[in-house]
Amino acid sequence: MQGYDVCIVGGGIIGCSIAYNLAKRGLRSVVIEKNALGSESTQAGAGMLGAQVEMEKPGALFDLGILSRALFRDLQQELKELSGVDIELQTSGILRLAVSEEDRRSLLDRREWQSAAGQKTEWLEDDDLRKEVGDLFGSTYGALFLPKDHQIRAMAFLRALVSAAGRLGTVFLEHTELIGFVRKGDRIVGIETNNGPFAADAAVIAAGAWSGIVGKMAGLELPVFPVKGQSILADFPTPVTPFTVFTHGTYMVPKVTGHLYIGATMEMAGFDKTATLQGLNRLLSDAARIMPSVGKLGWSGNLVGLRPGSQDGLPFLGQVPGLDGLYVASGHFRNGLLLSPITGVVMAELITSCTPRVDLSPFRVSRLW
Ligand code: GLY
Repeated sequence: MQGYDVCIVGGGIIGCSIAYNLAKRGLRSVVIEKNALGSESTQAGAGMLGAQVEMEKPGALFDLGILSRALFRDLQQELKELSGVDIELQTSGILRLAVSEEDRRSLLDRREWQSAAGQKTEWLEDDDLRKEVGDLFGSTYGALFLPKDHQIRAMAFLRALVSAAGRLGTVFLEHTELIGFVRKGDRIVGIETNNGPFAADAAVIAAGAWSGIVGKMAGLELPVFPVKGQSILADFPTPVTPFTVFTHGTYMVPKVTGHLYIGATMEMAGFDKTATLQGLNRLLSDAARIMPSVGKLGWSGNLVGLRPGSQDGLPFLGQVPGLDGLYVASGHFRNGLLLSPITGVVMAELITSCTPRVDLSPFRVSRLW
């Protein structure tokens, strides 16, 4: 039986980031992925690093997002050197448009608490916006500009992590499914897969929306559920908006590839990944309401992914109580890409018995039991 320090179940952005951080600390991991690496929610991600735009209230999740966002600049450099892959970090900021009086009030309130927390925000009235971008957005109730909320290319980030971790000794096995965990008393000592057994001192469940199913194989009740997101890719040869535009429910992310990413629905549809006319139609009409010229763009494709949701919107990060050597990093919901760097760091700290740099108690695995 092949032996590793750690078996990671799930080859999405979270599993790959954990593998990379373990490899940097000298631990050898095997990452098993039931399909291709990054082929589930990672490939569908717009790549927004919305530490401010995605957060509606202060708290542990906001703090974690700010910490994680700050890691991307150094990571870009580090991964470029190790892997040669550019993660396409674009630092143009995110504009959150207010679409009603109520939305305006809530964004002004958000501006206040985020500024008080030391984060950069700028408020633009409708007239200011028109001076910047003409009639691009029709009429608005003002907008909150978040200059530090950047974007990356999700699959470039994944490729960079895989290549860098691979160079440091991580083994990635695609089309490899978990059959079960191997236990010795109340300790995990390995995993069984369709490609054979692997011995390990620790295992991590990082299987995104499938983490609940994987958890059950270890007798663990992990309330992670799929939240479907459908998106559209439009041809966008000459960008009219340099920054990401975000409103309640819809966002448009201009990519350096010449595409405009229009996302994303939030649907409770179980594990169904069908692209539906209803979903795409809803996206297009919402986008056209914000930016009327969007309907003239060419069709380039569409994406579907299943976010790993949790009841309180927080990820599960930590060790499973009562089962030594089993860890969970899942339930990142809308914030998987944003939170992947800090998740990799704190999980590697936990697994190597260092005190994590972040208080993980708000994210503990047992909090909803
Ligand atoms: N983070 C954007 C989304 O999940 O749709």
